[in-house]
Amino acid sequence: MTDQLTPIDRAKYTAAHCAADFVQDGMRVGLGTGSTAAWMVRRLGTRIKQEGLRIIAVPTSTRTAQLARDVGINVVSLDEARWLDLTIDGADEFDAELTLIKGGGGALLQEKIVATASDQMIVITDAAKEVKTLGAFPLPVEVIPFGWRATKALVEEVLASMDVMGQNSSLRVNGDKPFVTDEGNYILDLDLGRIGNPRQLALVLNQVPGVVENGLFVDIADQVVIGHADGTCELR
Ligand code: 5RP
Repeated sequence: MTDQLTPIDRAKYTAAHCAADFVQDGMRVGLGTGSTAAWMVRRLGTRIKQEGLRIIAVPTSTRTAQLARDVGINVVSLDEARWLDLTIDGADEFDAELTLIKGGGGALLQEKIVATASDQMIVITDAAKEVKTLGAFPLPVEVIPFGWRATKALVEEVLASMDVMGQNSSLRVNGDKPFVTDEGNYILDLDLGRIGNPRQLALVLNQVPGVVENGLFVDIADQVVIGHADGTCELR
């Protein structure tokens, strides 16, 4: 079936399948969001049917929750699970320190909460997302709708004193309306070009009133599984 996929999608599929093998019977698993994570969720559904794998899972978005239920995964809330053994999720960019940019799919808030409440986070990706310096992918920042224009102005002001190349941000839209996250918030996409100090930027952004969370994942990912179109995986 992978014959019909583009090389990038074959790579994502491969990464997802390799990482799904890390899931063991009895585990509490965090399920990421996005096209790569969706392959992993489908694969876990197949393992449940074929091998009798028993897991409980916490999804990071309504989309993932729906897919997980559709493929027969036992979905619970994070409060019910309390703590997770493993979270498997995609990313938009990663660097040599395994710092990530996430949130391209708008699920960064639940993704960060779930990954942080896990013993281990495995990132699944194709090789094109590996970068020397983060920032070519616009950094998503989740903000509350109240006063979002003021929050946007403050975020841009803060960026002026940061080690980044650009300072512009734009409100993510869905047609002619703001994109609304599962938590009822908006997303600002920051066009930074280059992020010199992701750790510092992540801390400073979260101090701006109105900012709920940013898409920089620092010291959260433990391992990256890079899939290739030829069906092989590499671990970082
Ligand atoms: C969603 C995310 C995704 O993991 C990220 O956007 C990667 O998506 P894909 O696997 O479709 O390339 O952070 O908020």
